[in-house]
Amino acid sequence: MSKIPASDVLLSARDLTVRFGGVVAVNKVSFDVKRGEVFTLIGPNGAGKTTVFNLISRIYNPSGGTLTYMGRNLATVAPSRIAPLGIARTFQNIELFEHATVLQNLLIGRHVHRRTSVWSEMLFLPGVRAAERETRRKVEEVIDLLELQHYRDQLVAGLPYGVRKVVELARALATEPSLLLLDEPSSGLNVEETGDMAFWIQDIQRDLGITILMVEHDMGLVSKVSDRVLAMNQGEVLALGSPSEVQSNPAVIEAYLGTVDDVTSLRRPPGSVPAASRSGALARGAEPARVLQPATEAVQ
Ligand SMILES: Nc1ncnc2c1ncn2[C@@H]1O[C@H](COP(=O)(O)OP(=O)(O)OP(=O)(O)O)[C@@H](O)[C@H]1O
Ligand SMILES: [Mg+2]
Repeated sequence: MSKIPASDVLLSARDLTVRFGGVVAVNKVSFDVKRGEVFTLIGPNGAGKTTVFNLISRIYNPSGGTLTYMGRNLATVAPSRIAPLGIARTFQNIELFEHATVLQNLLIGRHVHRRTSVWSEMLFLPGVRAAERETRRKVEEVIDLLELQHYRDQLVAGLPYGVRKVVELARALATEPSLLLLDEPSSGLNVEETGDMAFWIQDIQRDLGITILMVEHDMGLVSKVSDRVLAMNQGEVLALGSPSEVQSNPAVIEAYLGTVDDVTSLRRPPGSVPAASRSGALARGAEPARVLQPATEAVQ
């Protein structure tokens, strides 16, 4: 299927299938994610996008097909070993420890890197102190990168939604992933905040060299940050290509609209593109002005 050299492939899905009772949520889905790219899954509600993430995270076992990460069959990897392998994710519905501070959430996330034994920790041996210093250094670096300094000692429960979304991204980044899975990073964000999220995704890809697999409904964000896009519908692959190729694919338009009359509707209307410069709206904790609707709902 793919002409990508094997050494460039970070994650590979082949005929990936999962059934829930009579529902085939993912049906023979194949794709390759290249090292260093932003690869985005789009598709109407219920297409199977989050299920693909849950298969990669080993929350679900596939009914068929294979997932290979860095040449390793993920079926042989225990769910608890996914984070240490370098795969981190954010969730469609934010999952954080609400009654812990931002800093504590990041430190907890970072514990996948703990290599010291319980005994050495009890005795607080030099190796433990060095590991602790490294953990703090990395976490502070992520706080600086995502401009969360102002919130570091605040409880997550009291933070505006947009900031919590960034904290979740920070928690995933603190684990120093090679592959970052972002499930709808713009959902619940206003246009300004979505613009900031786009910049952060680009920074993470470019400056940290992290490969990103994203699920996203906002076509403006998809076009801005994605190298390649895979469109799904009812568990199956509809199209794969550049953002513009996929958005103008008649099968994709039909899946979203039920008609092929309007080929521009998947694109963000002129004038509503995210701000050209970083607005700082997320860091300021702006309340969402409106919840962006998935394209499926927005165009109906
Ligand atoms: N644990 C489960 N048990 C039963 N059915 C499930 C389960 N998880 C997902 N499904 C079904 O699988 C299909 C795909 O769901 P999934 O959550 O992957 O869609 P999605 O593409 O992420 O949609 P959305 O854009 O709404 O988030 C749906 O029909 C859903 O009801
Ligand atoms: Mg989903």
